[in-house]
Amino acid sequence: MQQTLIYLAYMLSTALFILGLKRMGKVKTAVQGNLLASVAMAIAIVATLFDLQILSWVYIVAGLVIGSGIGAWFALRVEMTAMPQMVALFNGFGGLASLLVATSYFFGEVLERISADLSPDMLIGMDSSVTVGASILIGGITFTGSIVAWGKLEGRITEAPVRFTGQHLLNLILVLSALGTGYCLAFSVTGFWGSLLVLTILAVLALALGVLLVIPIGGADMPVVISLLNSYSGIAAAMAGFVIGDNLLIVGGALVGSAGLILTQIMCKAMNRSLANVLFGGFGATASASSGKEGYNNVKSTDPESAAMILDAASKVIIAPGYGMAVGQAQHAVKEFTDLMEKRGCEVLFAIHPVAGRMPGHMNVLLAEANIDYDKLVEMEKINSDFKNADVAIVLGANDVVNPAALDEKDSPIYGMPILNVHEARTVFVIKRSLSPGFAGIKNRLFEAENTNMIYGDAKQVMNAINEELKASE
Ligand code: TAP
Repeated sequence: MQQTLIYLAYMLSTALFILGLKRMGKVKTAVQGNLLASVAMAIAIVATLFDLQILSWVYIVAGLVIGSGIGAWFALRVEMTAMPQMVALFNGFGGLASLLVATSYFFGEVLERISADLSPDMLIGMDSSVTVGASILIGGITFTGSIVAWGKLEGRITEAPVRFTGQHLLNLILVLSALGTGYCLAFSVTGFWGSLLVLTILAVLALALGVLLVIPIGGADMPVVISLLNSYSGIAAAMAGFVIGDNLLIVGGALVGSAGLILTQIMCKAMNRSLANVLFGGFGATASASSGKEGYNNVKSTDPESAAMILDAASKVIIAPGYGMAVGQAQHAVKEFTDLMEKRGCEVLFAIHPVAGRMPGHMNVLLAEANIDYDKLVEMEKINSDFKNADVAIVLGANDVVNPAALDEKDSPIYGMPILNVHEARTVFVIKRSLSPGFAGIKNRLFEAENTNMIYGDAKQVMNAINEELKASE
């Protein structure tokens, strides 16, 4: 009876995980999706602990209360913009957990067999050795890689790529050594001390690899790395599931592994870069690789007062937000602007580029924080054909995601990256502090376009100034 209940709980949990993931795919249902996945996780933990008879229910309840308390404390305290760091830490702990589960299983089995006087050559079966080895290797890489990614985003470790001669060769040697150690684990390890030595070497190699694989990547590429590490943590968990024979862990791990990989691919595609280029290219390493201020001709600029006069007559405005809106924390000023314009009968929409900002969903999160209606946030593919109907496009702290070079300059590093077609609007206001380049470090000829007017200044200050002008003319 108890076993049937446990299987039912496993099935319910799996269904909730899948439903939760599906719901997380849309802004409107994301909160609900997150809740469903959390409930699934709680069911999974309790069912697994009962299933494997690991602990009494007193420990289960105590663990749940303490764990949920710590999780809730972190989640409530974290700033919206610091979400990638938190995800990095969670991934890292996931990897560490898989490493520890596999290690404890291995020694549990080893000790049991030694005490039963079994042949030392057959300490654990080959299949178990492979999954134990894979859990430790992937879990270890995920743990230290995630800590380095967290450090880079938090500014605790230099954001610049750390490179040295022979780095790739060293990494290759470490990978081959790890594979060799894994082979020893499966085929030639003998006795307790032999196992301990091989396992320790494998864990040290994995932890070192995690650091070495992430330090050469620039800080701005960390969102892609975190998404990839998220996928690794899922694969490590699935391996741990094979180790302890837990189907739910295998399913959950596989879901995380594939979801992380899909997100990584989406980000790479939206930047028109290969994963190899992100991992080994050092792109965006130094944001100011070239100042980009040189080489601009006939750039026109205007001020908030003149801009407000044109906006006063507009009936459709599309805002293309970017990283500068996040830096300037301009989302609340943007909300006020939207309300003022709508009061005048003007339609205001937001064009959301998938990699605007520095993390997936960066713009959605900021605009949601300012209570801007989800329905006004339109994805790039849908809104691009609408720019030609807009009286005004406001580019708010965005640069690369509106750079027409991506469309036709074959030698540009962003050639082929899909962009927001803001240049098709009747009038374009670009709000940023200078002509400095964005993440890609390149010139943006949108700034020279006939229909573009630059409004130099901090995103929030300029938006507030425009709002004041609009209020004054009410
Ligand atoms: P960027 O091209 O990086 O441009 C941001 C612009 O914001 C800068 O040119 C800067 O110009 C301006 N800015 C900075 N602070 C500002 C402030 N306080 N007020 C007003 N403007 C300010 O941003 P984007 O258009 O959002 O493109 C994102 C880039 O990041 C893409 O190249 C993308 O591939 C890359 N990337 C994104 C992600 C994800 S997941 N989103 C991950 C990795 C890489 P000034 O200094 O002149 O003000």
